[in-house]
Amino acid sequence: MSLRFPAQADPSTRPALVTGASSGIGRACAEALAALGHPVVVGARRVDRLDELVTTIREAGGQATACPLDVTDPTSVAGFLTAATDAYGEPEVLVSSAGTLIMARVWEMDPDEFDGQIDIHLRSVQRLLHAVMPGMIGRRRGDVVVIGSDVAYTARPRSGAYVAAKAGLEAMAVQARRELEGTGVRLGVVRPGPVMTEMGTEFDPATAESVINDWVRHGFGRHPRMCKPADLARGVTAMVSMPRGAQITELEIQPEAPIEEDYS
Ligand SMILES: NC(=O)c1ccc[n+]([C@@H]2O[C@H](COP(=O)([O-])OP(=O)(O)OC[C@H]3O[C@@H](n4cnc5c(N)ncnc54)[C@H](OP(=O)(O)O)[C@@H]3O)[C@@H](O)[C@H]2O)c1
Repeated sequence: MSLRFPAQADPSTRPALVTGASSGIGRACAEALAALGHPVVVGARRVDRLDELVTTIREAGGQATACPLDVTDPTSVAGFLTAATDAYGEPEVLVSSAGTLIMARVWEMDPDEFDGQIDIHLRSVQRLLHAVMPGMIGRRRGDVVVIGSDVAYTARPRSGAYVAAKAGLEAMAVQARRELEGTGVRLGVVRPGPVMTEMGTEFDPATAESVINDWVRHGFGRHPRMCKPADLARGVTAMVSMPRGAQITELEIQPEAPIEEDYS
């Protein structure tokens, strides 16, 4: 057992993989990691979006490459890992941000849709860990950040399988972190509150209205502010950039309430 850690390597030698990078939090994380100097491999299903992101990162002086990725498809995950390794070498950072949100009451949700939400938010993350962990453990270094959700602790009605999946993800992360002790690999959860992204923008007006009404009835939505994706990326880069010998294990990032001029 060594009580000393090597200094944190330069980001340019620490390739980063970001899932769900075509939009929202994943995209912001990819841009922020590239700005720090990490070579970044961005994955999602909409490759045209990824290509545009790669152009943006390269124009800003960063290194990035795009690979198609469907995290629910084991063959796609394996291809993503191979392409990423071919591009920049063995990955040292993984940010898992891919996700979708289907709203329904638990018992009203189609069971296949319920399975699909568990698949993308829980099983797919395990699929990624299964793929990257052996290499990271073998090299005795690596940072994995999974994007959770505050709903894991404050269940919002009509969130279908999302709450159960995110609660399961948090539990899996706690277990995995214990299992990783002594390996040199760090795993943390960045847990957003409401963030202004594309998630939820596809709801039909009737669904959106019933969801919001129910949330207000249950005490959510005390103020209207939401975080920006870049706020979450700050948390992710802080986690990944921690000096060796310490780790940020969980980070919840919430929007700050608007300042009230008449607060007393
Ligand atoms: N927005 C919020 O308020 C909020 C709050 C708490 C937690 N979160 C979590 O934050 C993460 C990112 O969400 P976001 O808000 O940034 O939403 P978003 O803007 O809709 O981004 C979701 C991303 O996931 C990708 N994705 C969806 N299905 C995929 C699949 N099967 N394989 C690979 N990529 C897939 C999407 O790309 P393609 O469609 O191109 O594949 C997109 O890039 C999610 O895990 C979400 O649960 C969000």
